Amino acid sequence: MRVLVVGATGAVGKAVVTELAARHEVLQASRSSGIYPVDIAQASSIAALFKKTGKIDAIVAAFGNVHFGLLGEMTGEQFRIGINNKLMGQVELVLQGQHYLNDGGSITLTSGILSDEPIRLGANASAVNRAVEGFVCGAAVELPRGMRINVVSASVLVESLPTYAPFFIGFDAVPAARVAMAYARSVDGADSGKIYRVR
Ligand SMILES: NC(=O)c1ccc[n+]([C@@H]2O[C@H](COP(=O)([O-])OP(=O)(O)OC[C@H]3O[C@@H](n4cnc5c(N)ncnc54)[C@H](OP(=O)(O)O)[C@@H]3O)[C@@H](O)[C@H]2O)c1
Repeated sequence: MRVLVVGATGAVGKAVVTELAARHEVLQASRSSGIYPVDIAQASSIAALFKKTGKIDAIVAAFGNVHFGLLGEMTGEQFRIGINNKLMGQVELVLQGQHYLNDGGSITLTSGILSDEPIRLGANASAVNRAVEGFVCGAAVELPRGMRINVVSASVLVESLPTYAPFFIGFDAVPAARVAMAYARSVDGADSGKIYRVR
């Protein structure tokens, strides 16, 4: 299969690329990619990406910024960081990408454990993650031509603890390679509308 991974250079994306490259042609897109550069915050940039990839069999989204901060100090502008980047970036990737997917193709999005397990400073992340999951739930019943869509909701990665450990005290961290297996199940399997919770 030809699989497009957006966010291929990230902690999640790198592990997904390693897992999928064993049996698929993986097109690696990211903000700084030399071959498939994309700014997921710009619809026109996503359009240029798909024009370059042409028809594909699977799309994986492994990106998404959110705002971490105290609810009592949060502004609407800060809240919109998660909406505009992690939510609308993935939504736009689906809205445009469905037209480039071959019959039976799949889309795999990314949410995260904060949709189920809230933490302090995480209101934007919890809201956006649930919105992504809600979008997948709704889109799955409508996608034509046998196309499928799923979402992976992982706990914090072992590899990301140097950055995120203070936010996730008491959480079980998961190795990126194990998280990547959920993306593989979505790409290679038959599920649609599923939330893979990797905990
Ligand atoms: N890390 C964790 O512990 C963890 C756990 C559960 C869920 N998640 C979720 O997984 C997703 C990825 O997290 P991560 O930790 O892997 O992130 P990361 O290491 O910061 O990597 C982010 C990736 O997204 C790309 N990117 C960033 N801004 C972009 C833009 N505007 N346009 C296009 N590409 C852009 C980066 O490209 P460049 O390198 O080219 O800039 C990079 O490939 C996020 O939604 C996060 O919430 C992460």
